[in-house]
Amino acid sequence: MATALVTGATAGLGKALARALAHEGADLVLVARTRTALEETARQLRAEGAGQVAVLPADLASDTGCDAVTACLTDPEAPVDLLVNNAGMGYASSFPANTVADEEHLLDVNVRATLRLTHAALGAMIPRRSGAVVNVASVAGLGPAWLASTYPASKAWVINFTESLARSRQVRESGVRLMALLPGYTRTEFHQRAGISTASPPQWLWLDADRVARTALRHLRRGAVLSVPSLRYKTAAWGLRHLPRTLTRPFAWEAAPR
Ligand SMILES: NC(=O)c1ccc[n+]([C@@H]2O[C@H](COP(=O)([O-])OP(=O)(O)OC[C@H]3O[C@@H](n4cnc5c(N)ncnc54)[C@H](OP(=O)(O)O)[C@@H]3O)[C@@H](O)[C@H]2O)c1
Repeated sequence: MATALVTGATAGLGKALARALAHEGADLVLVARTRTALEETARQLRAEGAGQVAVLPADLASDTGCDAVTACLTDPEAPVDLLVNNAGMGYASSFPANTVADEEHLLDVNVRATLRLTHAALGAMIPRRSGAVVNVASVAGLGPAWLASTYPASKAWVINFTESLARSRQVRESGVRLMALLPGYTRTEFHQRAGISTASPPQWLWLDADRVARTALRHLRRGAVLSVPSLRYKTAAWGLRHLPRTLTRPFAWEAAPR
């Protein structure tokens, strides 16, 4: 039975991805900071019919937390077949208003942990010539969509990092697969945790986390390198990737509106 390790698995997209993977028969290792939430999520998933569900409390902003997860990813006795780097965060406040420590914390979670865990996973998967890594980015990473925020830049890094590895000869020839998942606005705890208002984006822009997760796994099976669930965000992603910035700039929004 395949084993999937999902970071940020106690809420939102991570929980939805864990649920979809369990539904497909995968055993799970759930990672987040809060042990009680991990145990509650594991209990819920088992009640829904999941197989083996292990929990691994770890703060991915810390070296200790990343080390605990990389040890799990490289354990030859318990190989991990799929790594989902999903844990991520943003801020309601703008870059000039935040401290440098705040900004470094965001990069530690969104970028540095993704880099470290992907490196560990590939080190175990390439010699086995099997396995996959899904890195959760965002449609916002395709342009400076959220102005005066480091978040789109962190997700642009995730997209470029994932595409660069996925298309490389060394990775392709090993049979290991990488895919970046680019959701649009999705109903999760993300905005509430960051203190970002959910009032302004119209209802039709919001996606359901379980649907995003199921679509992403379908795209992974098809061998996609970029997964953009829903037609509306596929269209937006196409525009952000192919239209000149002069046309897409008016759609950007300020992190700190007047
Ligand atoms: N929601 C959206 O509209 C949206 C859109 C595009 C992309 N995304 C991306 O999707 C991913 C998941 O977001 P979400 O919306 O599902 O967020 P969420 O509902 O806020 O869930 C975040 C999860 O990550 C965990 N987490 C947060 N900080 C962590 C840390 N330092 N170490 C380990 N775990 C940590 C949280 O648990 P603990 O607090 O217990 O650690 C929780 O399980 C993120 O990468 C986000 O950038 C979200």
